[in-house]
Amino acid sequence: MKSLPEILAEFEQALELERELGTRTVECDRALLAPLRRAEAVAVQANQGAEASARVVPDVPPEPANEPANLGLPTVDELTACSKCPLASLGRQHVVPGQGNAASPDIMFIGEAPGADEDRQGLAFVGAAGQFLTKMILAMGYTREQVFIANICKCRPPNNRTPSPQEMTACLPYLRRQIAAIRPKCIVLLGRTAMSGLFPSQRIRRGTWYTYEGYPVIATFHPSYIIRFDPVMDATSLRTAKLEVWNTLKMVLARLGRRPPGR
Ligand code: URA
Repeated sequence: MKSLPEILAEFEQALELERELGTRTVECDRALLAPLRRAEAVAVQANQGAEASARVVPDVPPEPANEPANLGLPTVDELTACSKCPLASLGRQHVVPGQGNAASPDIMFIGEAPGADEDRQGLAFVGAAGQFLTKMILAMGYTREQVFIANICKCRPPNNRTPSPQEMTACLPYLRRQIAAIRPKCIVLLGRTAMSGLFPSQRIRRGTWYTYEGYPVIATFHPSYIIRFDPVMDATSLRTAKLEVWNTLKMVLARLGRRPPGR
């Protein structure tokens, strides 16, 4: 069972997360504030422990290279001409290479595959999930333009189905080229498909550092997991999931030597 300081520290983090995500007012009993302040010291200590353990990086061997990764960023024309998997002929409107800062940004976010909005605009994460990703990025103190946002697959799977392992394998060389050309300081994988797409032969866990071809990688929930379940998920599970996302984003900031803005 959790101790009172742990519960208060979590509560404080939940409030912090809501503030970062745009909530401006909450009703709060004044009597809560004193223990919250005491809990802050506990939270800082717990955080320092988490950051120390985050430095223990399980190093996953790189996936076998099936194409040189040093060919530069794949172009829209090149991706449009690609026919390495069935997605090219299954009704996509646009390829979605990804966008943002391609000159060694602090963070490269990698999702699953374009959805309907992304397919229409040729841009990654511009629909509802993208709005939550934007909140995450702003909460970390960045703009979308300062990070790079990409996907495992560059074409929309019909009816937003999960890309098959073959489709992800076919698209992986493009992502490897993006990573090699962009040289992000950290990679954040969004959701289970991104995790298995980048590490097809290794089960990785959320909230733990790995390396991929020399780049630090960490995974968290996909934004659509949070927004899809928002209306129906019970409040505790939703808060736990959001907190986990926020704690992972704070691990990323700590690794980059940064703090969330306003702290
Ligand atoms: N979901 C993803 O994984 N990627 C997008 O670009 C949009 C939604």
